[in-house]
Amino acid sequence: MNMYCIGNWKENISPSSTTEYCTALNKFLEKDPISSSVIMVIAPSFLAIPYTGEISQSVYRSAQNCSTNASGSFTGEISPSWFREVGVSFCIIGHSERRIIFHETNEQIEKKFHLLIEKNVMPIVCVGENDKSMSDKKRIDFVYSQLKCFPRNKNFLIAYEPIWAIGTGDIPSDQWIHKVSLAIKERFPKAAVLYGGSVNPDNSKTLAEIPSIQGFLIGGASLDPLGFHSIAKNIEKSIDGV
Ligand code: PGA
Repeated sequence: MNMYCIGNWKENISPSSTTEYCTALNKFLEKDPISSSVIMVIAPSFLAIPYTGEISQSVYRSAQNCSTNASGSFTGEISPSWFREVGVSFCIIGHSERRIIFHETNEQIEKKFHLLIEKNVMPIVCVGENDKSMSDKKRIDFVYSQLKCFPRNKNFLIAYEPIWAIGTGDIPSDQWIHKVSLAIKERFPKAAVLYGGSVNPDNSKTLAEIPSIQGFLIGGASLDPLGFHSIAKNIEKSIDGV
């Protein structure tokens, strides 16, 4: 079973610093390679993608967003049809920052999803509640409501990211994450469920042991190539049972 270690750079790391990042990550990977069962993915800004050319072949590239249309008069939008041309094989959609700040709807996210599948790009669909005090049932119903338009028999990635855990250092218990991801997995048996929200090199050791998750979507801690490599290493150890 593959596990995923995905770094969401958001609007961080400029094109010129991207070359530096890739050189540093390559160095850590040469010194201490990561098993191919851990799929490492970086999600730079669109402008930084051309600067990732030197990255180790074992690291995949993801976009952080895409257009709802394949082409046309949509000023400022970027078509998923072009992703493969520039070596992008994953795309994050429905991140809470896009839902909240840019008012993206489930319908738009669903359109992006189908376009990505059509263009052979793997969608990483983000879901998660904002209210920490919800009951387990309410929380799971909320996540199901965000996923209601997605096909149950498709291969894709679902990142469970409680909004209150993003960038705060406050994370749910292992049992909590297990319960929600198991519920997602029951409905989407072919999808890989990831956890996201304040994952770092320290907590990733135990988080990686949660049996129902297949890796992480990492924001802040992925901006440091050493930290990103350490998280991938912890995922690898959880597979080896070390
Ligand atoms: P964080 O972000 O790791 O900084 O909490 C996660 C995310 O927004 O995907």
